[in-house]
Amino acid sequence: MVIITGASSGIGEATASALAPDHRLVLVARRGDRLSALVERLRAQGGDALAVVEDVTAPDAAQRIVDQAVLRFGGIDALVNNAGLFETAVTAAITPDHLDRLWRLNVQAPIQLTQAALPQLSKRPSATIVNVSSVAAEVSFTGCGIYSATKAALEAWSRVLREELRTARVRVGVIAPGATATAAWPDGAAVDVSRMCRPQDVAAAIRFMLVAAPTASIDRLVVAPPAGPL
Ligand SMILES: NC(=O)c1ccc[n+]([C@@H]2O[C@H](COP(=O)([O-])OP(=O)(O)OC[C@H]3O[C@@H](n4cnc5c(N)ncnc54)[C@H](OP(=O)(O)O)[C@@H]3O)[C@@H](O)[C@H]2O)c1
Repeated sequence: MVIITGASSGIGEATASALAPDHRLVLVARRGDRLSALVERLRAQGGDALAVVEDVTAPDAAQRIVDQAVLRFGGIDALVNNAGLFETAVTAAITPDHLDRLWRLNVQAPIQLTQAALPQLSKRPSATIVNVSSVAAEVSFTGCGIYSATKAALEAWSRVLREELRTARVRVGVIAPGATATAAWPDGAAVDVSRMCRPQDVAAAIRFMLVAAPTASIDRLVVAPPAGPL
């Protein structure tokens, strides 16, 4: 069973569709109507999924998500920490709220959900955590200072986590998408969406990490448009 956060749109929704044929799923996001519609679609195709409506930054949300997953499916094989926020501000315009929003969703929430899921993941002979980062963890874009910092922090923590979990046989992978055509890009942004990756492209990489043989840990994958904006 796989928990996917941010499953109500974009990369998370595409990942749910990519995994549904052979995984049971717990789909997490705030927009319950979109999650319910996705669960219905997956069930109609023979899949088995549970919608859990939560703001992953809310107090105790992580434990509630894990409790519901265990109640329904009895255990957890994998966790995809995908929910994230892309919000820009040049340094002169950075506010405490901007810093707080990005830090809490892009860094703190994946750490808390991982902490809550670890006792379950560690019971499996082989388990996988995939953290969705961004090329912005390593590449500089004007206005992306705090976004880049949060994704770099997510990746730094992921590297440490990988070492900490080696003996427990829990693999930790990082996916770093480049520009991907999702709702993360604000309306009116001066970008050519038609030249971006599709969310399905990133989902295929997440699936690749999850279904890799237990003898292999795919540590980091970059998925970027071959001929478009990075
Ligand atoms: N699109 C890109 O170009 C790109 C590039 C690099 C990295 N990424 C990363 O890819 C990940 C997915 O983004 P996306 O492009 O697919 O964007 P998206 O379509 O906007 O999806 C974001 C998802 O996160 C969920 N979410 C946001 N805040 C949440 C909260 N507080 N609690 C629970 N769920 C929350 C949203 O659902 P609700 O609103 O229903 O809660 C939605 O399902 C993010 O980590 C992003 O940083 C994207």
